[in-house]
Amino acid sequence: MPEKIIILDFGSQYTQLIARRVRELNVYCEIFPYNKLPELTPDVKGLILSGSPCSVRDADHPNPDISQYRSQVPVLGVCYGAQLLAHENGGEVLPSTIREYGRARLGEVHATSRLMKEITIGSQVWMSHGDTIKHIPGNFEIIASTDSVAVAAYKIADEETYGIQFHPEVTHSTEGKTVLRNFVVHICACSQDWTPDQFIETTVADLQNQIGDDKVVLGLSGGVDSSVAAMLIHQAIGKNLYCIFVDNGLLRKDEFETVLESYKHMGLNVKGVDARDRFYSALAGISDPELKRKAIGRVFIEVFDDEAHQLTDVKWLAQGTIYPDVIESVSVKGPSATIKSHHNVGGLPDFMKLKVVEPLKALFKDEVRLVGKTLKIDDLILSRHPFPGPGLAIRIIGDITPQKVAVLQEVDHIFISNLRKYELYNEVWQAGAILLPIQTVGVMGDERTYENVVSLRAVTSVDGMTADWAHLPYEFLANVSNEIINKVKGVNRVVYDISSKPPATIEWE
Ligand code: XMP
Repeated sequence: MPEKIIILDFGSQYTQLIARRVRELNVYCEIFPYNKLPELTPDVKGLILSGSPCSVRDADHPNPDISQYRSQVPVLGVCYGAQLLAHENGGEVLPSTIREYGRARLGEVHATSRLMKEITIGSQVWMSHGDTIKHIPGNFEIIASTDSVAVAAYKIADEETYGIQFHPEVTHSTEGKTVLRNFVVHICACSQDWTPDQFIETTVADLQNQIGDDKVVLGLSGGVDSSVAAMLIHQAIGKNLYCIFVDNGLLRKDEFETVLESYKHMGLNVKGVDARDRFYSALAGISDPELKRKAIGRVFIEVFDDEAHQLTDVKWLAQGTIYPDVIESVSVKGPSATIKSHHNVGGLPDFMKLKVVEPLKALFKDEVRLVGKTLKIDDLILSRHPFPGPGLAIRIIGDITPQKVAVLQEVDHIFISNLRKYELYNEVWQAGAILLPIQTVGVMGDERTYENVVSLRAVTSVDGMTADWAHLPYEFLANVSNEIINKVKGVNRVVYDISSKPPATIEWE
């Protein structure tokens, strides 16, 4: 078991960022909702309390019992976490009298404090709080201040418990990473050996123990997560892993063939299944996007189940679920913690009765990519843009026909290959084309045309939760538009979507 840091989530928007920063230090960590703190085990080296939209002055504020941890491992309270420790130990937390949101500078820093080691006076920190610690208990010692926040950081005497009012996890806190390193590496004494190599080694060994000589089935999608999951399991059990890659007729142009070829190159035991007609029949006449999604999900399960039944003695279903899919998000306003619903979670139909193995469920997306790189997975698969499960079905507005799919595949292909040609592919987070159910008038040669409009969509984003439209060069857009109108029969007008998310979404449906 790798040593780890526990992050207790009080509902701050930054909790996942704390986890990311800790892991960037090659230290493993896990997030738990504030009301589900696990029993302390020997592999836990420290505890971080996150921020929160709540106030410790609220009568029903989140206040878990952390005494077992506090007596045995170092604790770091961030923002609400710091206020909670102060409040619970006899300090006074009051509403801030002046606005304390945004950049501030540390005016005083205790050079001898282990948490503040190498933090410079004048260092920029990011504040985001409505309450402030006005008075600290007698056994608390201030270790950093700003002009307006006297208690920017403190330590509790005779224990390794610290509180900081600012957010070390956001990049605006320029030395925030040093503060986290000081806590995790120097104070908690974590050994920083959680690397992709180490992850692969321990995961492969765990998979061998868990699975033994059993057979495993896995559905490949062509995306990063399922591909990396497959390679990890392949390393562990070789040919006992049976992969199924379904052509639902809604993939990008030539994608099924090229990706299938890459999978075979990687040594995977993979079967490509052409189920295009089954999907097209199920989708015929359906225009409602939710009904499309449901039909696709249902047919996928049917196809997958048919294939899995042809294999004998399969005991396990492998899935490429990743950490953000399974983190329980805290409902701080209500008493119960809710589990984030996601299309990758709970997708197991009852009738398949297989045990589930999810080797990536502790990793963030970029960590999955690092593991994939270490496993030498083709860059074509690793650096590919996200692509929705229902594929082109949600990019064809209205009903779906094989002809419409063929038109959109051509348009999308021209757009994506030009992004690669102009070296813009890696500048955007996701790109694609949408086929609109609108015909407009045009003129080609001497003839009047009446054909479809397509919209191009390209966005920049970090995680898809928010996104901006990509400011692609006009010349590039002009070339792509010309090429589409000249080459794709059935399209005579190209528009570019310049909406950000929110209020728009990335996909049109
Ligand atoms: P939106 O449109 O919500 O998209 O801004 C955010 C991200 O989610 C993807 N997306 C989907 N992925 N099934 C999926 O597997 C879906 O039904 C679906 N809808 C949107 C979208 O491509 C983007 O990356």
